[in-house]
Amino acid sequence: LTAREQHITWHEGGVSREAKEALLHQKGCVVWFTGLSGSGKSTVACTLEHALYRRGVTTALLDGDNIRHGLNCNLGFSEAERAENIRRVGEVTKLFVETGVITLASFISPYRIDRDLVRQRMGCRDFIEVYMKIPLEVCESRDPKGLYKLARCGKIKCFTGIDDPYEAPERPEITLDVDDPQGRRQSPEAMARIILAYLEE
Ligand code: PPS
Repeated sequence: LTAREQHITWHEGGVSREAKEALLHQKGCVVWFTGLSGSGKSTVACTLEHALYRRGVTTALLDGDNIRHGLNCNLGFSEAERAENIRRVGEVTKLFVETGVITLASFISPYRIDRDLVRQRMGCRDFIEVYMKIPLEVCESRDPKGLYKLARCGKIKCFTGIDDPYEAPERPEITLDVDDPQGRRQSPEAMARIILAYLEE
């Protein structure tokens, strides 16, 4: 049903986004982390959030595992449920961004269409896609929660990268590689610094 058919009307008139941003002395945006389980999305997002906090920036942190404990506790991992997960998170993110908050969203978000729909809904300027380009072998060797092991022996079905797809972004604003240009493993702190530099610019 359309909004008209449901007799619902958009209501304007609250304090403007610009006024809220002026109050906070910052501009809202979302830093959207996408990548395989174990790629370091949550770790880098937390590191970045602390770095922003030290600079006096107001942030919100939305993390897949955590959001699935509450708001999205009724969703599983089918393609349709992942789409709904990302759609709801996109809407929550939009509310934060329109309040002037720098929002860090960390979700596997394996389907390009779901991420692109959030980007369209937010407006391109507010959406900074960060691709955690960490090879499956590296994520699987880390296996911080033992989930790859369970997926490999069939105890978890539809596990991203094993028996479920991951569609890499085509034009992410930021790509974080496992190694730096000198071939050394990049720390979460170094990755957070790359994003900070982008945000400062
Ligand atoms: S998604 O694809 O964006 O809807 O997933 P997300 O909300 O980010 O949740 C990912 C976390 O759920 C755990 N988990 C799984 N991940 C992938 N596939 C399957 N089947 C699955 N089952 C449980 C896992 O802990 C993910 O967390 P991260 O931090 O990515 O490891």
